[in-house]
Amino acid sequence: MILAIHSSPKPGGNLERMVIKTAESTGLEYELIRLAELNMRPCLGCAKCAGKNRCVQQDDLSAVFEKFPRAKGLIMGAVNYNGIMNSIAHIFLERLFVHYHQNSVLRGMPAGVVAVGGEEPEKAAGNIISYLKDIYFFHVTGTALFKSDIPPCFSCGYGAKCPVGMPALHWPKEQFENFTRVRKNMFLRYEDNSDAVLACTRLGQSLLQAVTCQQSRRPKSGAGFYIN
Ligand SMILES: Cc1cc2nc3c(=O)[nH]c(=O)nc-3n(C[C@H](O)[C@H](O)[C@H](O)COP(=O)(O)O)c2cc1C
Repeated sequence: MILAIHSSPKPGGNLERMVIKTAESTGLEYELIRLAELNMRPCLGCAKCAGKNRCVQQDDLSAVFEKFPRAKGLIMGAVNYNGIMNSIAHIFLERLFVHYHQNSVLRGMPAGVVAVGGEEPEKAAGNIISYLKDIYFFHVTGTALFKSDIPPCFSCGYGAKCPVGMPALHWPKEQFENFTRVRKNMFLRYEDNSDAVLACTRLGQSLLQAVTCQQSRRPKSGAGFYIN
């Protein structure tokens, strides 16, 4: 079973659909988890999880963390809010510390990263990758990105009349002058971008390969030499 987890507050948004596409491309059974629907709190820093790999905070993340020992891989998706992965993703990855300790099930687990941003999805992806690789020693097999060109200004209500939003600040003068209203076709869909679709497909396949081969397993102690 693959855990397909994402932090977009928009159910059915581009990120969610990309995460599902990636999961389906593995051909494996998967479980979709929408972090935005969960009641979850940030890490308290008590490190009491070290003994039993269990958090003292019994919130909705407890059930999610219980699934990790049975999971063969992870798909982790986040959106870029203000230049970094959104805070929902951060809380989850911070709390994943519950599995950091002795006999960590995370070490060497194959993981695929999916990110969406209006302009810079790679920033959110970079944040996820740092967490997964550098902190928890996942084996990250790849990344699927989509630049949606959708600033929050398209749905805030002020639209073309807003003098302080992204279009007013960043669009070339002529383009902004021609911007009279937000139109439906300005909400891009990843399905219409063949590169984004291919990236999800390939990411799913690379996850399947890693899960099947299990060649990426780092020694549980974290020590030793390994070839990636
Ligand atoms: C509060 C907020 C801040 C945002 N800041 C950025 C940003 O700094 N860079 C960027 O590339 N996209 C930014 N975006 C755009 C989102 O990443 C974009 O809307 C994305 O397409 C959402 O994907 P979803 O529909 O799957 O949730 C921001 C969106 C919101 C709501």
